[in-house]
Amino acid sequence: MAEDLIIHKGTKAEQYASLIPQIAGLIEGEQDLVANLANVAAALKGQFGWWWVGFYLVKNDELVLGPFQGPVACTRIQKGKGVCGTAWAQAQTTIVPDVDQFPGHIACSSASKSEIVVPVIREGNVVAVLDVDSEHLNYFDTTDQKYLEQIVSLIPFS
Ligand code: SME
Repeated sequence: MAEDLIIHKGTKAEQYASLIPQIAGLIEGEQDLVANLANVAAALKGQFGWWWVGFYLVKNDELVLGPFQGPVACTRIQKGKGVCGTAWAQAQTTIVPDVDQFPGHIACSSASKSEIVVPVIREGNVVAVLDVDSEHLNYFDTTDQKYLEQIVSLIPFS
């Protein structure tokens, strides 16, 4: 498919509905993990303009920074620490409406106000997390959860 992303304006659900087939097209036929994660992060940033969006990969029992779009970020997160480490430990999507109210939140950027972290689960194990940060409070909801979980399910991890 063409590499140009078509940006759709509309409701959040309509934006995801426009984006998901494009992400599927970008991933189709490509097995390289870094290439796919990089394009997924760029597609999400392009459509939604979030402050920060990217992946942390589980390596040797810690999370290590992977492809992302946005300001520089902390490189390693321990299991159970911060929002990312919590989503990993619980193997569940974690939505944080106000990061200042989340005990142990890791502030990579003081501009970040709310966050959603979606674990990528393969064969029962968390292999990565998708982390999205907004500079606005209360920015993510179960609509984001539903579609972001769908998006991470498209990515081939081997
Ligand atoms: N805030 C995250 C750390 C990663 S950065 O936001 C990119 C956390 O608490 O896990």
